[in-house]
Amino acid sequence: MRTSTTTRQIMKPVESVPDAPENVRDPAALLHPLRAVPRAGDREDASVATAPDEEQVIDADATLDEALETMGRLRTARLWVHDEHGRAGQITEADCEEALAHERLHLRALRELGERSDDVITEISSDDAMGGAGSIGPYLWAGASALRCIRTAMVVAGSEAPRSILDFPCGHGRVLRVLKAAFPEAGLAAGDIDTGAVDFCARAFDATPIYAREDPQKMQIDGSYDLIWSGSLLTHLPAHRWADFLTFFETLLAPGGLLVLTLHGRHDEDALVTMQLAEDQVPGIQSQYDEQGFGYAEYRFHPRYGIAIASPAWVAGLIRARTRLELVNYAPESWEPPWPRQDVVACKASPPTTSRTPMPPAPAARGRRHRP
Ligand SMILES: C[S@@+](CC[C@H](N)C(=O)[O-])C[C@H]1O[C@@H](n2cnc3c(N)ncnc32)[C@H](O)[C@@H]1O
Repeated sequence: MRTSTTTRQIMKPVESVPDAPENVRDPAALLHPLRAVPRAGDREDASVATAPDEEQVIDADATLDEALETMGRLRTARLWVHDEHGRAGQITEADCEEALAHERLHLRALRELGERSDDVITEISSDDAMGGAGSIGPYLWAGASALRCIRTAMVVAGSEAPRSILDFPCGHGRVLRVLKAAFPEAGLAAGDIDTGAVDFCARAFDATPIYAREDPQKMQIDGSYDLIWSGSLLTHLPAHRWADFLTFFETLLAPGGLLVLTLHGRHDEDALVTMQLAEDQVPGIQSQYDEQGFGYAEYRFHPRYGIAIASPAWVAGLIRARTRLELVNYAPESWEPPWPRQDVVACKASPPTTSRTPMPPAPAARGRRHRP
């Protein structure tokens, strides 16, 4: 297929990863959509009732377009895929459509990266829970769409290219790999509570490792960053923990530095259930949001971790209460990791020399600023 040929030429092959440890996936293998799509179990499992006829076959090296064209010609929605060992599995029309959608995301990512696309390290840890098994397109687009959000925030804030970047939480570098390619001059730091993920990012992307504690107030970090990206952290935490993380980020921002973080807005039931809330948790979290601008429900399978949804007004109030952060951009549903989309908030750290004009002492009746 035209598009997959292009992507194979553009992406670096996995052989470029020297001494790759065992937990590294072979992204190059994911780049041939038809080889990637058939499920391994299909080789033996297909029941006679659902299996295509003997002659309804397609070669594993064929393209998705060819598979769809063959299905149309043979009037079937399912084909056997044959490779050098015989039947490799089956592919359906829906598989082809999904794989084509993934290809399109891959191409969008490459377009966003432009000439930097060759520099994206394609080594992917098999421990990467964000990995979109079997499909590089959505994975790479998650990174590239984060870059797009960051570039937008930089334009709005009038920021220069960052010389130091902290990705917190970095996971296994889904976004960090793209930031490394886009800002090759910047020093990188990678922080996460998952020590294996931090080690992976330190090795694969030459990032300074930051082994996080659950409570950021217990962490001592020497560092000052022009850009902090925080993708999908606050999205999982109750309201009282947001302030702790904002303090943590505020302390680590260089003067004039940019904090770009992602949040969930008011999602519908489908999105909330996709994010692993139980159906009976949905009305509760939505009514909290409607009444207070913020809702949180803890995962039944993971204590102290869940899904948070926040309104722009609630978030703006939280940031207004900070001494060093100025809210510069609020971009609803603009990060695509891939679904549901997340809101992206950008804050700029005020330089020390131009700290905000001190407020006159507040009359006792007005009290202190409230932190939600
Ligand atoms: C949804 S993943 C996002 C990872 C990464 N930002 C990405 O987009 O691929 C959330 C990450 O937050 C990390 N995490 C959870 N609680 C944390 C904490 N208190 N401090 C640092 N990282 C935390 C998890 O280990 C996980 O890697």
